[in-house]
Amino acid sequence: MRVAARLRVPGDKSISHRALILGALADGRTRVTGILRSADVESTAGVLRALGVEIPELSDDFELRGVGLRGIEQPEVNLDCGNSGTTTRLMAGVVAASPVSATFVGDASLSRRPMRRVARPLEAMGARVSLPSHGGLPMTIDGGALNGIDWSSDVASAQVKSAILLAALVARVSASVTEPTLSRDHTERMLAARGARITSRGTRVELAAGSTLRAVDVSVPSDPSSAAFFAGLTAASDSAEVLLERVCVNPTRMGFFALLSRMGARVTETNRRDEAGEAVADVLVRSGALKGTTVGAADVPAMIDELPLLACLATRASGETIVTGAGELRTKESDRIAAVVANLRAVGATAEELPDGYRVIGARSNLRGRVVTHGDHRLAMAFGILGALPGNEIAVDDPACVGVSYPGFWDDLDRLRPTAKWS
Ligand code: S3P
Repeated sequence: MRVAARLRVPGDKSISHRALILGALADGRTRVTGILRSADVESTAGVLRALGVEIPELSDDFELRGVGLRGIEQPEVNLDCGNSGTTTRLMAGVVAASPVSATFVGDASLSRRPMRRVARPLEAMGARVSLPSHGGLPMTIDGGALNGIDWSSDVASAQVKSAILLAALVARVSASVTEPTLSRDHTERMLAARGARITSRGTRVELAAGSTLRAVDVSVPSDPSSAAFFAGLTAASDSAEVLLERVCVNPTRMGFFALLSRMGARVTETNRRDEAGEAVADVLVRSGALKGTTVGAADVPAMIDELPLLACLATRASGETIVTGAGELRTKESDRIAAVVANLRAVGATAEELPDGYRVIGARSNLRGRVVTHGDHRLAMAFGILGALPGNEIAVDDPACVGVSYPGFWDDLDRLRPTAKWS
């Protein structure tokens, strides 16, 4: 098999956050290898340290000692979550069930993001949560003993689901959560691997009261949302192929890769194996003539973080690409519908906003200009990929913002940028 390029992207962000949080709550020592070292994961480490957990400096291979479900301590400082929604919402669940009072703060982008979606279920369980009138940060939680809950969430959000499950775990009560469409299920898988009594059926998950947590080592697989950028670059290039190594191929994360196949690229998984409850594989992506596509609400959770990238690739696909049912994009690190469409237009593409998605018309014309990322890492990387396609010239206003999820992105892009040898 001839492979033009190989790449192992950094560790999965969702699993990295959870490795720290579940390691902190377990009894005993957890060895973590391959954790993502990025600003978001550092935010989770910092918040756990403020709550009395000894987290060593993050490195490729380290151990942390859990404090157990009862070991969270009163912080002396505000819990600074930086840019990270996952840190805020998952740790909100942990704090709500612990005998502490804490205020979550973050940067300007995070402070605007909706927190009522976690405040409501945590209040229903008995925590006291105060939010500013705009519903973002700062958020103060007075935690303590909680009741069990049977929650029906109106958004498919792994962060909301995880906040409830972690609150119930720490409070040792039962919880069930039903979501409109299944969101990423890493929390469920990692809890099950640690001995918690948790069962999932369709879009409903149930955690039994009094579940305990044993320490289990984590070897973090590569992040499919980071791999997606290079899959997309390859798919839209001429005669290119890339082998993306050791990617987490959990079905709740692979929507974008399935979509690339539907659009005309060739995507195959090899060397598939199970690692501590998560499927891992090498993913081979080969370019193809891309066709426009449609994405609806049921497809969205499994590709939510890849939708800015899809909009960029759609400029190179024949025909139109329409995404609907993705209103959640407006609540991310930026309003990703408005920002992606405005930027596509700024570089000369044809795109329009829909209330809950976007429409992009493909054309083989060259795109040129400067894009405004609003500090949003996924916008910076999506337009970085678009700019790397032959004929395009795109400048990104804030390239450093990729540091929240993929600090080495621009170096990897320089290495893999389509060159003459690819065609
Ligand atoms: C994440 C869940 C998703 C995703 C985010 C990470 C997680 O958010 O967009 O990047 O690790 O749980 P929602 O669950 O709010 O959709």
